[in-house]
Amino acid sequence: HIMKEFSGISSLEMELTNKLGIKGCIIVPGNADESEWVKSELGKMGAEQLSKIVQPKQTISVTGGTTIASVAEALPENLKNKELLFVPARGGIGADLQYQANSLCQIMAKKTAGDYMVLYVPDQVTKELYHSFINDSSIREVLLKIKSSDVVIHGIGDAITMAKRRNTSQFEMDILLEQQAVAEAFGYYFDENGKEVNKVNTIGLQLEDLQHIPHIIAIAGGVSKAKAIKAYMKIAPKNTILVTDESAAKLILKG
Ligand code: G3H
Repeated sequence: HIMKEFSGISSLEMELTNKLGIKGCIIVPGNADESEWVKSELGKMGAEQLSKIVQPKQTISVTGGTTIASVAEALPENLKNKELLFVPARGGIGADLQYQANSLCQIMAKKTAGDYMVLYVPDQVTKELYHSFINDSSIREVLLKIKSSDVVIHGIGDAITMAKRRNTSQFEMDILLEQQAVAEAFGYYFDENGKEVNKVNTIGLQLEDLQHIPHIIAIAGGVSKAKAIKAYMKIAPKNTILVTDESAAKLILKG
């Protein structure tokens, strides 16, 4: 903490918290786009926040992505044997198995000697499939856990990067470009004013579910995500804690 004060990060954290109007901000030095080390630091700080917040036997829902993967890697020893339950906040996206919400829940449960559930659905489904999926009893069970979780740990994506990861059709890609989407979270796309410009049909955590979740930890950093973070934070629940890096923080404060 002394180091933080020397580097001015503490005051940056306060400034950013005030600007975004959320519960708190944690800032790590550097730019996650440029160094894997910074992403690891984001993960460590995210994991530290979780260990401060979480109580034994609580349920934590987790999105996927490379940033949240670094949280899984960094979960500290003191979370062990707390009988935590990790549930995936979304279905599968893209080809990378190691960054799926399902995979991260398994890693987190292993690290903490806790439990986890899996959600075997694609992240994006057609309207017709959506209804049959949510009527399936094992999927329903996971969805109920997600919606009643005590903590959410989630990433924030750059809109176009996430749309590509989802193999979005050209038709929908054009909508995103036309509407100038900059941010993505939980399958929702937002423009820079935080206006929802598109929403994919997903089975998993929905924005409205966040209203009932006591603790929310959002983790995202890097120059490439500054716009996305700023936009999403316009509609983020006030109880959100943001873990980000210096490069993103400075850009958010600039505009
Ligand atoms: O929902 C947002 C994305 O999961 C962010 O993914 O951490 O790999 O950039 P990322």
